[in-house]
Amino acid sequence: MKIVVIQGPNLNMLGIREKNIYGPMKLEDIHGQMKSFAEQNKLEIEFFQSNLEGEIVDRIQECIGDADGIIINPAAYTHTSIAIRDAISAVQLPTLEVHLSNIHQREEFRHKSLTAPVCAGQILGMGPFGYHLAMVGMTQILSEVAAMKQAKQAQQAKAQVQAQA
Ligand code: DQA
Repeated sequence: MKIVVIQGPNLNMLGIREKNIYGPMKLEDIHGQMKSFAEQNKLEIEFFQSNLEGEIVDRIQECIGDADGIIINPAAYTHTSIAIRDAISAVQLPTLEVHLSNIHQREEFRHKSLTAPVCAGQILGMGPFGYHLAMVGMTQILSEVAAMKQAKQAQQAKAQVQAQA
């Protein structure tokens, strides 16, 4: 099972930008923690950060046939990007949206997420720990998906045996 983590604009500046809002932790340290969690849970993980909307759309599209789930912080594009929303909707993969800050406590233009309605869930206001929660959530979603696939296969095999009898 593979998870792709997609980080939007300015998240490469974590540890430098507005530490009072986003805290002191760098993106590479957050990714280090996620990688450890993935290793412990036998999951494959890949990280991608871009400041460009089209590159984020491309990376989401590339997840088809490559990834089983997506964890995304679209950053400022959360509030503006129909293109990223459409890409998430198009790939039909379980997707969790993460925000370090509580966007509802901030400026009004941050209150609306265009991407959240096409995601399985949203985690916000927990700082870097939100990414850990997203990993736990995604692990649960993926194990449920695997269990459903197995049950479907068993049902199909049973139906085949019955048809041959
Ligand atoms: C953010 C919230 C967005 O409003 C903002 O533009 C970001 C980061 C967060 O993680 O809290 O860049 O997505």
